[in-house]
Amino acid sequence: MSLPSINPTKTETWKALEEHFQKIENLQMQDVFEKDSDRAERFKIEWQDFYLDYSKNRITDETISLLLKLAEEVELKEAIAQQFSGEKINETEDRAVLHTALRDFENMKPEVKTTLQKMKLFSEEIISGNHKGFTGKGITDIVNIGIGGSHLGPEMVVEALQFYKNHLKIHFIANIDGDDVSEKLKTLNPETTLFIIVSKSFTTQETIVNASFVRDWFLKNASKADIEKHFVAVSTNEKGAKDFGISEENIFPMQDWVGGRFSLWSSVGLSICCAVGFKNFEAMLKGAFGMDTHFKNEDFSKNIPIILALLSVWYNNFFKAESEAVVPYSQYLNKLVPYLQQAIMESNGKSIDLNGEKINYQTGTIVWGNVGSNSQHAYFQLLHQGTKLIPTDFIGFAEPLAGNTNNHNVLMANYLAQTEALWEGTHFKTVENPFKIFEGNKPTNSLLIKRLTPKNLGSLIAMYEHKLFVQGIIWNIFSYDQWGVELGKTVAKGTLNAIEKNNPEKIENTSTINLLKKVFGNKKD
Ligand code: F6P
Repeated sequence: MSLPSINPTKTETWKALEEHFQKIENLQMQDVFEKDSDRAERFKIEWQDFYLDYSKNRITDETISLLLKLAEEVELKEAIAQQFSGEKINETEDRAVLHTALRDFENMKPEVKTTLQKMKLFSEEIISGNHKGFTGKGITDIVNIGIGGSHLGPEMVVEALQFYKNHLKIHFIANIDGDDVSEKLKTLNPETTLFIIVSKSFTTQETIVNASFVRDWFLKNASKADIEKHFVAVSTNEKGAKDFGISEENIFPMQDWVGGRFSLWSSVGLSICCAVGFKNFEAMLKGAFGMDTHFKNEDFSKNIPIILALLSVWYNNFFKAESEAVVPYSQYLNKLVPYLQQAIMESNGKSIDLNGEKINYQTGTIVWGNVGSNSQHAYFQLLHQGTKLIPTDFIGFAEPLAGNTNNHNVLMANYLAQTEALWEGTHFKTVENPFKIFEGNKPTNSLLIKRLTPKNLGSLIAMYEHKLFVQGIIWNIFSYDQWGVELGKTVAKGTLNAIEKNNPEKIENTSTINLLKKVFGNKKD
């Protein structure tokens, strides 16, 4: 069965939304809010440890009811059911999309259970020091070698759960930049380091080149037989991993129905397991499953990912907002935005609809941001007084982890004050100096989570996964493929060939030829 394919702009609700937009586009919504004492109560959702306040948005009750109608008209319910049932909704790659099945412990597929068990046992051996390196010493450092989804998720989570971390030091080699690889290796001792090569395909150029370099570095001190104690792989491509020299028992399998950018829940999360222990990893999976259940079963009007997705469509397609920001008020979440950039922009950066037709409306939002309060001292000027409309998600935690209440009070005062200042501006004040006028009316969502636990982190990540899926359904695009990354890879292969063969003429574009000559010179001359 195929996903419903409905051009959103041809629906009745879209037209109604366009008309409604004309009416409220120029409204200073602060006045509406002031007169409506119940607004903050109506535009909020409470679920487990999550509290979403979306009242500071340029919406009325009519906006929300129209957006909810749009979701129905594009048959979102049907699409959600198809995804969870394992239909091959990633049609262009002929694959199901089942990262949610990795966290559904009650209905877990046997192969997923087996892999989880393998991850548990392995990580316990590493953490306890029972697993010995080639000179008999325990492992102190773990290096995840992988890129894209094989890097961003694990790194983001390891950082986010630093509070729960054990003694192991976790490093990430992703970039093909050799300088970075050398810097990382400088700090490592081959006797006590474990390398996890993570690549769903095991063909990704950066990962294979980096892993080969690291293996050569390791072999300067050790023998081929020692590889077994220091190199493991995570991949769907068992043959590729074996050809690289990884022994069969050191391969952690993953399934082709897990997309790279949704794979941190799979064996790709091995570095997470090692960093925080299997129990915390499992708690994160359970938190994600909780959000899956909420998303699948909750009424659309009380459904956090759906409401967030609809608001984002409202700004993207009606207000023509070009981007949205995400600002977590927690240093632990400083890698969240790069992670979301891949998840969201690789998924929804599409311009062809489900029928293969060119789209004439806006799709994928540009996502950017950084942690608060640092961001306030960097780009917030533009949010407050710039010409662009940038809807922003503010993520905060009610309780600090380390018990520093004083700092936490200041942090949260800023979290709360910024959404208020962005919304109200100087609207209710008389300000003569034009440079000191703040128009306000800047939309924000405030997501307040009780505490940054592994469980709540799992729910948070799953929330954004579902949000992007809903947007893809509304925009009538395939969110789960990524053909747009392929052309660059092919061209780079040709360019590398030209560099290695010292033959710039193999390249046709004169601009690129000139650049290439500047970088490498033309050794033929
Ligand atoms: O180039 C994009 C991409 O295919 C991502 O979707 C993926 O996460 C990344 O490359 C890494 O792929 P792999 O895990 O197969 O090495």
